Amino acid sequence: MSLAGSLPSLVSLAERLFISRMCMTIPVASIFSHVPAYPGDPILSLMEGFQRDPRPHKVSLSVGLYLDEQGRLPVLQAIRRAEQQLAQNVLPCGYLPMEGAANYRAAAQRLVFGPQREAVNSGRIATLQALGGSGALKVGADFLRRYFPGAGVWVSDPTWDNHVAIFEGAGLKVGTYPYYDAATGTLCFEAMLAAIRALPCGDIVLLHACCHNPTGVDLSRQQWQALIPALVEGGLIPFVDMAYQGFGDGLDEDAWPVRALADAGVQFFAANSFSKNFSLYGERCGALHVVCADAAAAQTVLGQLKAAVRRNYSSPPTHGARLIATVLQTPELLALWQQELAAMCKRMTAMRGQLREALRARLPQRNWDYLVTQRGMFSYTGLTAAQVNQLREQHAIYLVRSGRLCVTGLTAQNIEQVAQAIAAAGVQSNGGL
Ligand code: LMR
Repeated sequence: MSLAGSLPSLVSLAERLFISRMCMTIPVASIFSHVPAYPGDPILSLMEGFQRDPRPHKVSLSVGLYLDEQGRLPVLQAIRRAEQQLAQNVLPCGYLPMEGAANYRAAAQRLVFGPQREAVNSGRIATLQALGGSGALKVGADFLRRYFPGAGVWVSDPTWDNHVAIFEGAGLKVGTYPYYDAATGTLCFEAMLAAIRALPCGDIVLLHACCHNPTGVDLSRQQWQALIPALVEGGLIPFVDMAYQGFGDGLDEDAWPVRALADAGVQFFAANSFSKNFSLYGERCGALHVVCADAAAAQTVLGQLKAAVRRNYSSPPTHGARLIATVLQTPELLALWQQELAAMCKRMTAMRGQLREALRARLPQRNWDYLVTQRGMFSYTGLTAAQVNQLREQHAIYLVRSGRLCVTGLTAQNIEQVAQAIAAAGVQSNGGL
């Protein structure tokens, strides 16, 4: 190209640069000025703050991540072995069906409902691979909003903060039923049952199958046996969240409420997550199960769940589902995973016991037994928001603002430091403390 020929384009380039410089300097009103700043998630922003905290002795007792005795996020041996198995035969990565991988869905259904159960064998459970437990809740919430638009959703007081956000975000109204008695640190079952009996027919009741988040206080089997008829008589739709299967009393024991509802012929929703029990948080693996009256209804429901997935994200990802299906379908890996899960539980139980002893030694006048009677990752300490701030600011110990403590962040190295800081915070008599 000649110099003469390139002159006009040089001029227009100069003009464009000038205009773009002008544009950068002219103040323009933001079209987003009405968008409020996000105050941050009550749990996940603590995790971000913890990562930024430079203090070497910091302790994370906030987010629900299982950490090992060195305070590290473990990669389970069963998952390592499944990864190796998959690496030997790398498969193409096409789109999964909207409802997810068939082998994963079947394996998840068996793990939640148990093998050889009537509800499973009769095909009346619509099971959908979901993006973790949260994704299962969201797809279920979207379905309920569309097909039960006037139904209210009732959650325990307190519950996982995101329950409210997910159901409200789907356009449903959310209220609470009594659950936790802060004065005694126990379940207020009579008040819970009375409130549930008074709910409008057709409303949705969100329940935790096991390892209640945030309190660690679960219903006993007798209490479930009293609750289930109340749900049926009230024409209510249970939605059971099971994010911690295997972190309480065992895989089958923890799933008992879900199985009891299915055996009682109740039509209900259940969400399960593999984030915690497989230590596979980032793969976003979970499932939504809708237990229907018969197989034909389950097919129809599954169709609409697929439509909800298509409207949101089209189809779920492949890799995590392959890992989990490989473990659940390979007897040797299944046994290895069950052993590793049992070891995680043992460590949580040991940490609960050691914290109780360390606190007893400092504040013997208080009853710390709740630490060992509660189940799963969490305990509700009764520490106030101000005390939680004090623990974080003065001692680099992170709890959730509500006073929820995640026991998996405790190690033999930090337990005395944590007990000392809690004792120094001047605990109140509410909650477990
Ligand atoms: C928790 O409750 O800490 C976990 O379930 C993580 C989360 O997403 O909030």
